[in-house]
Amino acid sequence: MKNQTENSSYAKVNGISISYIDEGPREGLVIIFIHGFPLNKSMWREQIDSLKGHFRAVAYDIRGHGESNAEATDFSIDQFADDLMGLMDYLKLKRAIFCGLSMGGYIALTAMEKHPNRCEGLVLCNTQCTADTEEAKEKRKKAALSIQQNGVDKYAEVNLKNLFTKESFSKRKNVVKRVREMMTSTSKSSLLRSLQALAGRRETCGKLSEIDVPVLITTGRKDPITPPPKAELMHRKIKNSALYIFENSGHLSNLEYPYKFNDQLIRFLNTIKKKTGIPKVNVSL
Ligand code: MLT
Repeated sequence: MKNQTENSSYAKVNGISISYIDEGPREGLVIIFIHGFPLNKSMWREQIDSLKGHFRAVAYDIRGHGESNAEATDFSIDQFADDLMGLMDYLKLKRAIFCGLSMGGYIALTAMEKHPNRCEGLVLCNTQCTADTEEAKEKRKKAALSIQQNGVDKYAEVNLKNLFTKESFSKRKNVVKRVREMMTSTSKSSLLRSLQALAGRRETCGKLSEIDVPVLITTGRKDPITPPPKAELMHRKIKNSALYIFENSGHLSNLEYPYKFNDQLIRFLNTIKKKTGIPKVNVSL
């Protein structure tokens, strides 16, 4: 394992080893956290700690990230979504709430599209339903070239600036450090293959009107990668959705504003509990 300090378990899924953490009560709602690119499951630590007294919380490393390994084949968002289903099968989970940030959101939406009966609710954080434009694909090609020429550390240094607000570089140094470590511990090969998967992903906007589970959509007002109009578009298309914009946040709202983020998450989970008849809980943040 690279930089994680989690007590991980491992599941054999689709021919690879998926590393995950699974905390909280065995009964009731299950929420599965899906991290962004190029991070790992430890980005959800503050959420899991806040939820685990009342909800079962699972977070896992996407193949090639964190402690999960990968075969020497191309990556795709479809493959990542199949791995999520494989992990649910391994854990014997019929249904769960998917909470994905950015790339994690692409995976959640793809899994929802392919297997709607496995999804009990969606939390779409700092993400979008649109596919890459030609310009975005070009940027990814340039990023890949730069990784090949200048290495992963340089890539992390440049791209960290897109993930956090300026303020976080002085006020949240530990969080920035943690994220830098997540980025630099991802292998060059995984970075390159994930960039390809991101560039090749399908749009999921066309199917959003079919979603009939509760959905919470969040983003940061200052998120340059998935700004509010991306979230508003999904909100308009998904009938059962709520939208929350974190006013001062950039791309990693759960890490920049964990208390506010957890508050929104718990409110949302309580609405699902109410619908399913499970008593609502007061969770101290
Ligand atoms: C992420 O945070 O997962 C990435 O920024 C997603 C993307 O580049 O499309």
